Amino acid sequence: MKALTWHGRRDVRVDTVPDPVLRDPTDVLVEVTTTGLCGSDLHLYEVLGAFLDEGDILGHEAMGVVREVGSAVHAVGVGDRVVVPFNVSCGTCRMCVNGLQSQCETTQVRAYGTGAALFGYTKLYGQVPGGQAELLRVPFGNTLPVVVPHGPPDERYVLLSDVLPTAWQAVEYAAVPPGGSVAVLGLGPIGDMCTRIARHRGAATVIGVDLVPERLERARANGVDTLDLARLGSRVVDAARDLTDGRGPHAVIDAVGMEAHGSPAATAAQRMTSLLPDALAARLMTRVGLDRLHALHLAVDMVRRGGTISLSGVYGGMTDPLPMLTMFDKQLCLRMGQANVLRWMDDLLPLLGDGDPLGVDGFATHHLPLAEAPAAYEMFQRKQDGVVKVLLKP
Ligand SMILES: NC(=O)c1ccc[n+]([C@@H]2O[C@H](COP(=O)([O-])OP(=O)(O)OC[C@H]3O[C@@H](n4cnc5c(N)ncnc54)[C@H](O)[C@@H]3O)[C@@H](O)[C@H]2O)c1
Ligand SMILES: [Zn+2]
Ligand SMILES: [Zn+2]
Repeated sequence: MKALTWHGRRDVRVDTVPDPVLRDPTDVLVEVTTTGLCGSDLHLYEVLGAFLDEGDILGHEAMGVVREVGSAVHAVGVGDRVVVPFNVSCGTCRMCVNGLQSQCETTQVRAYGTGAALFGYTKLYGQVPGGQAELLRVPFGNTLPVVVPHGPPDERYVLLSDVLPTAWQAVEYAAVPPGGSVAVLGLGPIGDMCTRIARHRGAATVIGVDLVPERLERARANGVDTLDLARLGSRVVDAARDLTDGRGPHAVIDAVGMEAHGSPAATAAQRMTSLLPDALAARLMTRVGLDRLHALHLAVDMVRRGGTISLSGVYGGMTDPLPMLTMFDKQLCLRMGQANVLRWMDDLLPLLGDGDPLGVDGFATHHLPLAEAPAAYEMFQRKQDGVVKVLLKP
């Protein structure tokens, strides 16, 4: 089959690799029809190479049609249309039954002390072959794949694999009071979807912060109060307070993470800015800086006293200092983690009808064949061509 494989920093290729086969009686084999490209993939593309081997298949946002089922699979059958959650979770352990699928005790990667395995996500998360491929082996066939109706286009459902549950959890953890305010840092696919879900769930003021003009514009078109970090610099905090009776938003969602621009450390600044369009690089260098905890610090600063920070951007590293004095003094609540994808299905599936309250139809900006995935990674990292979400068709 064809699959998108990792070969080195900023070097991914579509290779021909052996087809996956059923290994356990509860495995199913899914013929992937659509698969997403995610900000989390950019971490693999740029900085997590130490945890990848050449040839690893990337991708954790897949849906498709069941082609083959193991002898013990009864919950899905050949021909069923399924979405595959990005957590490899068993569905039956103590963590899974309590809705913490990202901590599944059956697939926890004990060698690295990490939580549940993930599709296509390095040795830290089990080195499970990913879904940017023609075929995907999915374990736990009776509990993991989510069956969706035939009929509507894939884009209606594929975001259930990650974007929708991640954004839903981020908003849930933000605990915005009814009629309250929330600021979303980062308007990539996750942040953009957070603004929609926050509004849908009753936030009265939804603020979006980014520095990519097209992303700001897209959120503004959806009724979000946008703040351009590149223009405002540190004044962005005051601007957010001005929109929230001087106190700051009740909650801030960090949908940026450690290096959404591809830089884990200031020393990588030059390398990273060379990737961005000149205008954006200049705005970033002069106004925002390259502190990899920038978004988190911004969240601490911006949020109202007694407010909540919900972190869905991915962070790594052990030694970055946190502004503990301010966090303690402001009496903040901080929640974070990988999404527990299956936990939110019952909330999300009813929202995917024809009314489309979250605007999932048309959410993706780019639909491309899998063969063009290497160029798509580059475009997504550089934020060119107005890209927000790429969906690939194997
Ligand atoms: N918790 C989870 O389960 C989960 C799931 C999916 C993605 N993620 C993470 O969420 C983050 C966002 O993912 P995405 O797909 O939307 O990626 P993305 O890289 O497209 O989006 C990040 C956005 O943040 C903006 N940005 C950069 N620095 C900023 C700053 N200091 N302040 C405000 N905005 C800033 C960028 O311009 C970009 O638009 C990534 O870290 C990703 O790994 C987490
Ligand atoms: Zn993802
Ligand atoms: Zn489990």
